[in-house]
Order: sequence, then C-alpha cells, then structure tokens
Amino acid sequence: MTIRRNRALRGALVGFGNVAVHGHVPVWKNDRHFSILAVCDPDEAQLAVAAELLPDVRRYPTVDELFANERLDFVDVATPPALHGELAIKAAAQGIHVLCEKPLTLSVDECNRIRSAASAAHVVVFTNHNWKYAPIFRTAKRVLRRGEIGRVTHVELQTLRMQPPATVGEGDTWRLDPARSGGGILVDHGWHAFYLALYALDAEPIAVSARTARRKFLASGVEDTANCTIEFDGATAEIFLTWAADERRNAARFTGAQGTIDVADRTLIVRVAERAPVETGFAQPLSAGSYHPDWFAALLDDFREELYEPKLRGANFREAETCCRLLELAYRSSAADGARLPFREVLPPIEGPGAGE
Ligand SMILES: NC(=O)c1ccc[n+]([C@@H]2O[C@H](COP(=O)([O-])OP(=O)(O)OC[C@H]3O[C@@H](n4cnc5c(N)ncnc54)[C@H](O)[C@@H]3O)[C@@H](O)[C@H]2O)c1
Repeated sequence: MTIRRNRALRGALVGFGNVAVHGHVPVWKNDRHFSILAVCDPDEAQLAVAAELLPDVRRYPTVDELFANERLDFVDVATPPALHGELAIKAAAQGIHVLCEKPLTLSVDECNRIRSAASAAHVVVFTNHNWKYAPIFRTAKRVLRRGEIGRVTHVELQTLRMQPPATVGEGDTWRLDPARSGGGILVDHGWHAFYLALYALDAEPIAVSARTARRKFLASGVEDTANCTIEFDGATAEIFLTWAADERRNAARFTGAQGTIDVADRTLIVRVAERAPVETGFAQPLSAGSYHPDWFAALLDDFREELYEPKLRGANFREAETCCRLLELAYRSSAADGARLPFREVLPPIEGPGAGE
C-alpha cells in the first residue's frame, strides 16, 4: 500500500501503557503528519488515561473491535513483547502498516510469518529502534562514517540498571514474567544493544555466544544479567546488561584501527593517536528516563519515508530480523553453556525481500 503525502496518516495506539503515554503520545500530539484516531487497551484504567490525554480519540478494549470500527493507515503497537508478533500479523492482514515497539518478535519462526504477512499486503513493519536516534549515538555514527578512528574492530555496549523498568498495573511486572516478556534483560535491553552493534559495524554477524544469569530477581522466571559476544568479519561486539547493578548507567566504546570513541552517558570522547582527545557533551544522559520522546520523534521521519516510498522499505525490517535471530541464538547459546553458534547455519535462512517491498 502506497500512501499519498497530502493528508495526515490515520493511526491507532495499541497498548496504552508507560511507553505509549510518556514516549509516544507527546510526539503524536505535535506531529502534523500523523493523526491518532483511536486507542486500544484491555485495561480500563489505561483507557481512562487515554481519554484524558487524547480527548478526541475513540477507545477500544480489543484490536478486533478497533479494526472493525476504524479506517486506519497504521497502528503503533506498544503492548508487552509476547503480543507484538500476532498483533503485527493481524494488522498486516487488514492492510494496516505497523510501527512496533521493540522487540518486534521473540522467535525467528514468527518473524518469518510477519515478513510473509507484510509482503503479501505490501505494508511496512517498522520496529522502534529508537536508541539509534539518540543524539550521542548519531554523533558517534558520524565520527565512524568520517573514518576518524579507522575500521572498527571492537564494540562494547553496557547497560546497568538496579531493576527492570516499571509497568502499568499495580504490583504487575510483566518484564519478570516469561509468558508476557518472552525473556529478561536480553529481550528488554539486548535488542537495543544488538541494533546498536549493527549500526556501528554495518555488517552481518558471523557467530554468537552468550551467558545469562539470575543475580537479583531470583524468584522470577527470566535472566536479569546477560553477557553476549557477537562476531563479525574482523570485529567483535561485547554486550553486558544487568538489572542487578547498584547504579544506573549506560556506556559504549567503539575501538578502531586508529582510535576510540567512548560514550559515557552524556559525554562522547574521540581519541586518535597524536591528537588531543575531543570531548562533546550532551544535554541528556543516555540512562535518563526510559521513554525518550525526542528519539521517537526523530525515528518517525524514517517511518514516514518508508510509508511514502515503497522503494525505501525493508532496511528497518532486516535490522529487526537480525536482532530476532541474535536473540534466539543468544538464548540457545546460553542454554548450551555459552557455546559459539554460527549466525547463518543454525536458523532457517532469511528468504525473499524485506517486509513491505
Ligand atoms: N523503545 C524504548 O525505549 C522502550 C521503552 C520502554 C518500553 N518499550 C517497549 O514498549 C512495550 C510496552 O512497554 P511499557 O513499559 O509501556 O509496558 P506497560 O506495561 O507500561 O504497558 C503495556 C500496555 O499494554 C496493554 N496491553 C496488554 N495486552 C494488550 C492487548 N492485547 N491489546 C492492547 N493493549 C494491551 C497493557 O494493558 C498496558 O497498558 C514493550 O514492548 C517494551 O519493551 C520500549
């Protein structure tokens, strides 16, 4: 489905919890290219919040009622992860484009089904890879593109938290419930780390090894700590994630043949031999807040371009597909005591063009 540029795109929010309220609504309200007509959430309390924040929208407890009553160009899916895939497939079957919170899906099998549904209906499925739009990572990418530190050989990404983020619903923490989360910190932050590594290295992974652990949330069914190594041709990415830290911090280092880029929350330092380090400060630390409306606003430009220009479609989907494969392999590796698993051979090959192409 191609969309004309001369009208606002009609959308509905599916899942009206924290990220929708704090990360998406402030942007939807101010973007003239999009118009939110409806909200869908089974939780009455969240529909009441929607009525306050977006008084003109219609409200539905299920997507079946939403789809039966609204003519939509797109949905913005922000439910717990285990529902993303089936909601994306349902929307695609109605010819509705999908903007989906990460993770797009939890299994390669479901990812293939999303691809087929999107390709058949010619709709975009675009995952919210919002950390790529953080000004500090955009700046790092520009330094990498300019070749200042040479060919990148090593990427380190760290996310330290003291607990999982809050969810709506009193006493409810779906992030610690595998049936709704699909996994622990690897699903929640690992997905961000995977696409950031791909963004820095612009290459397909060769192999993955990972170990996961439960250090703090011992009664939960998911890991709160994960180490993951991704091998690329001539480069590696080392990812460390934990909800069991005693501080909240994000850090990254990109090591190249001629220098390094260090990202430490709100500071970026480029070090190249025989030159004084160049330090850039940013207003917001990476670890401040969990919802990042400014990053979401920047990402919408790319979502919109995929809607308008079918020939631009697919890059975001391929990135999500790679994250999905990395996620599945990381869990398999952890179950096999950290075994090194080849990226291509273990899972079924990616077939055909990207979603919506
Ligand atoms: N990209 C980011 O930076 C970022 C930040 C936070 C959360 N997220 C992602 O956003 C998603 C939501 O996270 P959250 O923190 O907002 O969780 P949340 O618990 O605050 O909100 C989830 C909402 O989904 C609703 N929901 C449950 N089942 C539904 C269904 N069948 N149909 C419609 N709505 C349904 C719940 O009632 C709730 O209101 C997750 O996938 C999470 O990983 C992304």
